[in-house]
Amino acid sequence: MIEANSISTTRAFYDAVAGDYAELARDELSGKPLDRGILAAFAERVRCAGVGPVADLGCGPGHVTAYLHSLGVTDVFGVDLSSQMVAIARRVYPELRFDEGSMASLDRPDGSLGGIVAWYSIIHTPPGVLSAVLAEFRRLLASGGQLLLAFQVGDEPLRIAEPFGHAVSLDFRRWSPDRIVGMLGRAGFKVNARLLREPDSTERVPQAFLLADAVNPASSGS
Ligand SMILES: C[S@@+](CC[C@H](N)C(=O)[O-])C[C@H]1O[C@@H](n2cnc3c(N)ncnc32)[C@H](O)[C@@H]1O
Repeated sequence: MIEANSISTTRAFYDAVAGDYAELARDELSGKPLDRGILAAFAERVRCAGVGPVADLGCGPGHVTAYLHSLGVTDVFGVDLSSQMVAIARRVYPELRFDEGSMASLDRPDGSLGGIVAWYSIIHTPPGVLSAVLAEFRRLLASGGQLLLAFQVGDEPLRIAEPFGHAVSLDFRRWSPDRIVGMLGRAGFKVNARLLREPDSTERVPQAFLLADAVNPASSGS
């Protein structure tokens, strides 16, 4: 679904930077109360819906997976393209499950998840395949399941010259929240909350968070 070269470039990049990235990410949430707030809302909605396990797709070093677990989402696991990210996540959080895989095509039955978090992981998805990735999220979620997306806001991708000091070429995509809300509606989601926060001292652009219910086609427009 996602072009093979996009997948392999993204995987190679995160394999190369995994150690540095994990250092930066480890305590990141402690300085971001609004981000913790939307994760707490997601965790509560997932627990109330009680329709299945939660997948943190594009989990990186696993700190968000672990944070959800600390909020009482006991049946949670992470998936990432990068074997190095998965190795770090397994080492730091040995009590949790982390798998290698692509969120664009997960080997799981339809309706088998109660929640999906994609926390800054759609930022490398080519625009032409994002609707197919959202359709895959909807396929995986049971009706009443919860989706939480986090991403940077903007119209143009950001090309960082040497991210983490590595001479690689990788687009960091930014998205318009309105555009993603429209795509979610067409994919079978009802958006319940949009949080837009201003950049903090470590960020360049506003950050968006969308919380949505997986709905049946008949109720998606109501
Ligand atoms: C910016 S990092 C975010 C990691 C983590 N969620 C966080 O917030 O720190 C993006 C992560 O998404 C992963 N990723 C990108 N595309 C993916 C895909 N198609 N399937 C699974 N993981 C993917 C990358 O390997 C990387 O670990």
